[in-house]
Amino acid sequence: MTAPPEAPAPHPSPAPPGPPWALLAELTHACPLRCGYCSNPVELIGRSAELSTDQWSDVFRQAGALGVVHTHLSGGEPLLRRDLPALVAAADGAGLYTQLVTSGVGLGERRLAELTGAGLRSVQLSVQHADPAAAEHIAGARSFAAKERAARLVREAGLPLGLNAVLHRGNLDDLDALVRLALDWGADRIELANTQYHGWAARNRAALLPTPAQVERARARATRWRERLGGTPELVWVAPDLVDATAKPCMGGWGAVSLTVAPDGTVLPCPAAGTLPGLDPPNVRDRQLAWIWQESEIFGVFRGDSWLPEPCRGCALRTVDHGGCRCQAYALTGDAARTDPACRHAPERPLVDVLLLDAARAPHPPGYAYREGGP
Ligand code: FES
Repeated sequence: MTAPPEAPAPHPSPAPPGPPWALLAELTHACPLRCGYCSNPVELIGRSAELSTDQWSDVFRQAGALGVVHTHLSGGEPLLRRDLPALVAAADGAGLYTQLVTSGVGLGERRLAELTGAGLRSVQLSVQHADPAAAEHIAGARSFAAKERAARLVREAGLPLGLNAVLHRGNLDDLDALVRLALDWGADRIELANTQYHGWAARNRAALLPTPAQVERARARATRWRERLGGTPELVWVAPDLVDATAKPCMGGWGAVSLTVAPDGTVLPCPAAGTLPGLDPPNVRDRQLAWIWQESEIFGVFRGDSWLPEPCRGCALRTVDHGGCRCQAYALTGDAARTDPACRHAPERPLVDVLLLDAARAPHPPGYAYREGGP
């Protein structure tokens, strides 16, 4: 019999370091794509449970009053919200910088004009692979032509365009082609983000985890591109923490710079924190954002460094990586207060070494458990 998951040990919660910088607004979990690397929870929130237009507008007003500067309008696919222009207008009216995080599917000329008219400031477009067939295999849906068109429309509208490619075993060897595609499509920023293993990505971990040799080849290519591009466009490499054996400073620290509002109004320190037991996340239907940020147990529980376990407590990097990702620590050890096993100094690091060995033996090309829960 498996022991029940342990709740994090209580400790005095330090005050927040200041107002949050960013609000991740997960407007819906519905999505026309079915990517196996998706970090949405395996139990997706249904459309009937989503916040209304007025409730989201109030969230943006509260966020602006709290001091939030930047909102990522995300999902799922936020374009599936018919009221998206009204939500953009509400966020813009609250003084927030608005970025649409999208697959590009459903972003036609008229929709984009409505969104820019409402105050949309930038777009981040996902791309799975430079080859259309490979991209659609990863996405589990026809989408490549829609993305290409969306990129062109965003550039023609004069909005900054970021391209985000989630990297894994199925596309790391094609990094050069991904960068060339981003340049062809006119990206101002290219984010090469190695997969974070939450939600559906955790379910697909064996199919997604790359080999260390694959990572090293791709890292060298990314470095060469960065030198060649000289910062225009900006090229960002988000490191693969499990392969690199380093803890990542997840979300810039727990409850330090960002809050996430899930489609049903649940407020979390990160998108995956709903998986942690015993924390009873608050909801904007019942509580004000300011209270949630400043007073709630869930935002305070891993704030600062007083909660850190050994070996993090004596580590010079503790103020940089904050002991790594709490959700990954929980997923791998059953205890969110442990050192993230991604770290080479973590007592549970051997768990990750086994995962990497298993993944190296998994079939190639990988078969994905595609996410379910489309529109
Ligand atoms: Fe939750 Fe890293 S995803 S702390």
